[in-house]
Parts: sequence; C-alpha cells; structure tokens
Amino acid sequence: MSELSSRKPLHDIEPVFISRWSTKALSGEPISDDTLFKSFEAARWAPSGSNSQPWRFIYSKRDSESWPRFLELVNERNRVWAANASALILLLSKKNRETPEGARPLRSHSFDAGAAWSNFANQTHLSGWSTRAIGGFDRDGVRSSLSIPDEYEIEVVIAVGKPADNSVLPEPLQSANKPSGRVPLSDLVADGRFAFAGAE
Ligand SMILES: Cc1cc2nc3c(=O)[nH]c(=O)nc-3n(C[C@H](O)[C@H](O)[C@H](O)COP(=O)(O)O)c2cc1C
Repeated sequence: MSELSSRKPLHDIEPVFISRWSTKALSGEPISDDTLFKSFEAARWAPSGSNSQPWRFIYSKRDSESWPRFLELVNERNRVWAANASALILLLSKKNRETPEGARPLRSHSFDAGAAWSNFANQTHLSGWSTRAIGGFDRDGVRSSLSIPDEYEIEVVIAVGKPADNSVLPEPLQSANKPSGRVPLSDLVADGRFAFAGAE
C-alpha cells in the first residue's frame, strides 16, 4: 500500500478508485478467457447515449497468431513495456446508431467508449490484473491491417497484464513507474458558474 502514498482521496470513496493505476511493469503470463471476459462484461454494462452501446473490443492474447501484428502497431516507446502485456485490446466506437428512421450520427460515441473503458479498467483491477491505455499507436496501420470500416472510430489500445516488479522494465522506465496523483477538486468542480482555480 505504501506505493500508493501519493494518492490521498479528498473524500471517502471506494478503494478501487485509488488503488487502480496503470503500471508498465507486467509479467507476461497468460490471461484466461474467464478473467478477460469478466472485464468485457463489466464494460458491457456502461451507460451510453440512447443505450446505443457503441463500444467494440478486438483482443489479441500474447500466445495468439494475431499478437505480433497487434504489438507491431503500438509505437516504439510503448512497445518497450507493452511487449510484456498478456493481451492487447483495440477499443473502437461506432459513430452512428440505428433508429427506425435509419442510421443517425451518435454524438457521444467516444464519450460512451470512455465509460466502457473505465468499467473495463476497474473490473480488471478488481480481478488482480492491470490495464494501461495506449494512445501512441499507428491508427492508419490499425485501420488497414484489421480492416476497420470508416464508420468506426479507433479510440485506444488497452494493454492488460499481471502487475510485476519494476525490475522487469528497462532502467529509464523503472523510477517513473509509480502511481500518479491528481489535481485538487477545486481545479475541476465549480458551483453554478465557470470558476476554477487557475483558470482565466
Ligand atoms: C486515452 C489515453 C491514452 C494514453 N496513452 C498512453 C500512451 O500512449 N502511453 C502510456 O504509457 N500511457 C498512456 N496512457 C496512460 C496515462 O498516462 C495514465 O492513465 C495517466 O497518467 C494516469 O495514470 P493512472 O492510470 O496510473 O492513474 C493513456 C491513457 C489514456 C486514458
């Protein structure tokens, strides 16, 4: 628990929100479908605009045929640690929703996918595993190599793995790999008007 000393909640909240963090130190051990699908199931229950559920997940486990392709699409800086993940997951969102009048743009598709990611990350943590989102990857490469249709936004890659000791990381990454803090609530929340600490 001492590594979480930089994380002090300002209010009494459930421990999961503080103890989840995105370690880069991962063991590379295999992850079961049971664990993985528990996290997808948690994601499935996220809220979304008109209950449209626009999130889509494409996963690759490290022992699968698709793994080298997935890892190659992650940029070099992230590949250094993500190579030890147990699964890489591409999160997409569907930009349109079906209505009786036909397909209509869904303004909240990315927002909704973010809610699903949050459920996914928290459930994975509760299962004793770890997630780290990756925005640094080859989006054009993903679209072409996985044949993603244009009506799907490419959101993020999620690395899932079992937390390991920092010594599995190359030296420059070791000391920085620790739980981060957060800005105070006064920077984030205002009562009735635009009034945030430090804002113009
Ligand atoms: C959309 C998104 C993109 C991210 N991209 C990267 C990335 O490319 N590489 C990386 O190491 N971490 C990435 N992260 C992880 C964040 O840096 C991390 O979640 C943030 O610093 C908060 O730390 P915590 O998750 O440990 O609480 C990303 C996170 C999100 C949500």
